[in-house]
Amino acid sequence: MSEIPLSVVPRQQTQRITDYRDEALSRDGFVVAWPPQRYWKNAESQFVDQSPPLHLYFHIPFCLQRCRYCFFKIGILSENSYAVRERYVDALCQEIAQVSEQQGIRGRRVQSIYFGGGTPSVLQPEQLARIKASIEQHFTLDDPEFVFEIEPVTFNDRLIDGLSELGVNRMSFGIQSFDDRVVALTGRHDTEAKNCAAIERALASGAVVNIDLLSGLEGETMDSWQHSVNRAIELGVHAVTVYKLELYSNAHYMDDIRAGALDLPDDEQEMRFARWGIDRLRDQGYAPSTYFTFTKGGAFPQRHIISRWRGEDLYGFGASAFGTLGGVARQNLSEIDEYLTCVEKGASPVQRVMQLSSADHMLRDVVMGMKTTRIDLAQYQQRHGLNLAWALQEDIKVLEQKGLLHHTSNAIELSAEGVIYGDYCGRYLGAALRRVMTGNSRPIKA
Ligand SMILES: C[S@@+](CC[C@H](N)C(=O)[O-])C[C@H]1O[C@@H](n2cnc3c(N)ncnc32)[C@H](O)[C@@H]1O
Ligand code: SF4
Repeated sequence: MSEIPLSVVPRQQTQRITDYRDEALSRDGFVVAWPPQRYWKNAESQFVDQSPPLHLYFHIPFCLQRCRYCFFKIGILSENSYAVRERYVDALCQEIAQVSEQQGIRGRRVQSIYFGGGTPSVLQPEQLARIKASIEQHFTLDDPEFVFEIEPVTFNDRLIDGLSELGVNRMSFGIQSFDDRVVALTGRHDTEAKNCAAIERALASGAVVNIDLLSGLEGETMDSWQHSVNRAIELGVHAVTVYKLELYSNAHYMDDIRAGALDLPDDEQEMRFARWGIDRLRDQGYAPSTYFTFTKGGAFPQRHIISRWRGEDLYGFGASAFGTLGGVARQNLSEIDEYLTCVEKGASPVQRVMQLSSADHMLRDVVMGMKTTRIDLAQYQQRHGLNLAWALQEDIKVLEQKGLLHHTSNAIELSAEGVIYGDYCGRYLGAALRRVMTGNSRPIKA
């Protein structure tokens, strides 16, 4: 009678488990606790601080325009939309108060705050200050990383002074391209001159600066792409995120494609852009801190996103925001009006919930772990009691043979080639782990 499949038991623990298959049938030996208390640690030395870190995400679903490539669910602001933003800010403050009480997280230490969108920089500094005051009233700030997304066209001295006062220490600019011709085709109103001025001003403020570039836009050529990547490096930003254009039916691009009026760079071209950009960034000393964000010298990783991927407690406020708290994933209503009406009535705007099983946690740490380019095997074993490299040895070998992974005694890591296919590797290993868990493992063709 082997209660725990020995293949998934870590070495340390297997030493404690008798293999009952060879024992005589017996009613002796009442199990009081597992693991038995003799293995528990001395209380004085362990777990002094019981409260795990908490991270907060705020979704600001408003933009000045819908960029032609973008599929995010957003509301477009008109000139006199101050009242709409006020209402949304009121709702966020109310949701903070509701959630902190209902979830029993009032006073918890907050290690990161992220304002994402949409375009958070369409809020006025005093509106942002109201949200920050509400956060401070309900939580304890533990010198948090404070990330803020900005569209350069909304950037001005008043905003940057306001952000510095609020304690924003990481600014993330949506740039997409430094080529004015390519930008104009997206429907954005930024220009290279405006973008560079905003980035320089942000760098001078002492914040960590990240910029987003988007590979595969209409009108992109190798020359325009190289210009964008080189400009980012010249500006000396701390981090460059290279997104691959994703197409969804609600993007304006799709209307044009259906009408036969838009010819985007094909997959092969897009791949050449991405490859060139990643190689160039690496040559200039930028290392992947995730498979799509490259940071100077490998420093300045963004803690918020990595904590989210590790499944640390994170609460998402605002329309469509999501997070996981105490092993329960929750997402709010995505329609702005429905979200507002619900919060204003004092009701919960949570629309979707999922209680994660231990298998979900194990799978998440593989699929999302690969996004960080590396899974630390000792850490994985400590969290889940599984020798991952042993359990997935055949599948790891397949990805190694494809040149996508390196496997050392400490870690499974994306290779330079694997960085281009980060999510593929995560999904591949996730599927392999699921097969092991469900007993559907089958020999894999190399
Ligand atoms: C919320 S936006 C950043 C802030 C601000 N809204 C802006 O655009 O400047 C986050 C990023 O998503 C990326 N993005 C938008 N649409 C995308 C798409 N169709 N495919 C891939 N990435 C996209 C863009 O690079 C954008 O900078
Ligand atoms: S890319 Fe940014 S500014 Fe443009 S529509 Fe999407 S979220 Fe809004």
